[in-house]
Amino acid sequence: MGEIPSADRLNRRRFLGAAGLAGAGAIMSARGTIAADAAKPDPLITEIQDWNRYLGDGVDTKPYGMPSKFEKNVIRRDVSWLTASPQSSVNFTPLHELDGIITPSGLCFERHHAGVAEINPADHRLMINGMVDRPLVFTMEDIKRMPRVNKIYFLECAANSGMEWRGAQLNGCQFTHGMVHNVMYTGVTLRTVLNEAGIKPNAKWLMLEGADAAGMNRSLPLDKALDDCMLAFAMNGEALRPEQGYPLRAVIPGWEGNLWVKWLRRIEVGDQPWQTREETSKYTDLLADGMARKHTFIMDAKSVVTNPSPQAPLKYKGRNVLSGIAWSGRGTVTRVDVSMDGGRNWQTARIDGPVLDKSMTRFYVDFDWNGQELMIQSRAMDSSGYVQPSKEALRKVRGVNSIYHNNGIQTWLVRSSGETENVEVG
Ligand code: MTE
Ligand code: CO
Repeated sequence: MGEIPSADRLNRRRFLGAAGLAGAGAIMSARGTIAADAAKPDPLITEIQDWNRYLGDGVDTKPYGMPSKFEKNVIRRDVSWLTASPQSSVNFTPLHELDGIITPSGLCFERHHAGVAEINPADHRLMINGMVDRPLVFTMEDIKRMPRVNKIYFLECAANSGMEWRGAQLNGCQFTHGMVHNVMYTGVTLRTVLNEAGIKPNAKWLMLEGADAAGMNRSLPLDKALDDCMLAFAMNGEALRPEQGYPLRAVIPGWEGNLWVKWLRRIEVGDQPWQTREETSKYTDLLADGMARKHTFIMDAKSVVTNPSPQAPLKYKGRNVLSGIAWSGRGTVTRVDVSMDGGRNWQTARIDGPVLDKSMTRFYVDFDWNGQELMIQSRAMDSSGYVQPSKEALRKVRGVNSIYHNNGIQTWLVRSSGETENVEVG
């Protein structure tokens, strides 16, 4: 075949795409596959395939749809040595397999302290007591008869990237950054529910308590509760998944995941925090001088390149899509910059899809790769003017004793083979 001008070549490629893209081990030239090779006809084009020959499954076979069997690697994964038992543990969202801004319900990371509570919604009760005019008990039916709202928010565990404080450790954005998900919640505002009970004038704090075997509880400032918090019974258009707190969970936009109490059964209203386990011995940040930061509720701006990344190496020279996600607990993501050379030079990434308050935001850099080594980084900026810091800058302020709130800039080293590794630049 003669030399094809590049625009022409792209057209041919689209036309003959199946041959080039599906051809076993197709080697890419600098600009992409040269698809047509008349000497070796591609059976995927010339032969009738089984899926074309035989009838497929009928509508009666899958009352609840599942992903294609060819997507079997798109799963949550845990790291067995991280925790002592699977009931008090975490698994991670496969960020490198996802796109857009919505996390599919079945792929949302799970973090629980005492396993998944199995609750029949008919048996679930939400109680409001303490400094209120009228202590109340709600059934799920009661809650579903109140005015509803729909909102998309990210949830990030404060411990996300926690293993990386002392240096690069886990090889994959699923493990370094996968304690985050982003779904649409349907529910009622916490303000609506609190107004029904009537808050006493001196009240300042709430205590949210779960119905799981951990009875997990956290103190929440009343101001935040009245601002944008929700009690959600649905995610992504259907009932919450059991893992995510079915039948009712707290939604605390932009704040650390631990406050988003699942299987929510009680709200106590008071005038000071309760100093629960989860806000004293856990979810506080030990500094280098031995003092600990407490009530570090907000998840600051953070981003990560999901492709390429260790579980999703570069496979082709020439045309490539770099993709990633950014989020901020302080508002919207206004800009994401990407470096390919370990932070020396930066270019502004293309944000695509909805840019929403306290939601994940998707970014892309469309680039040509000629096989050189890359040190890929991303840096998010948010509507408050905050800029995601380097890990070095973060450690200067925080030391290395912390577990929580590591929002430092991630670096992926892409080798000339395309293999990609978690590294740090000095
Ligand atoms: N709520 C209860 N009742 N029990 C729990 O163990 N884990 C918390 C929070 N709410 C937890 C809980 C933590 S630490 C996080 S990060 C989020 O739930 C995780 O939410 P997810 O499992 O929906 O991802
Ligand atoms: Co958590």
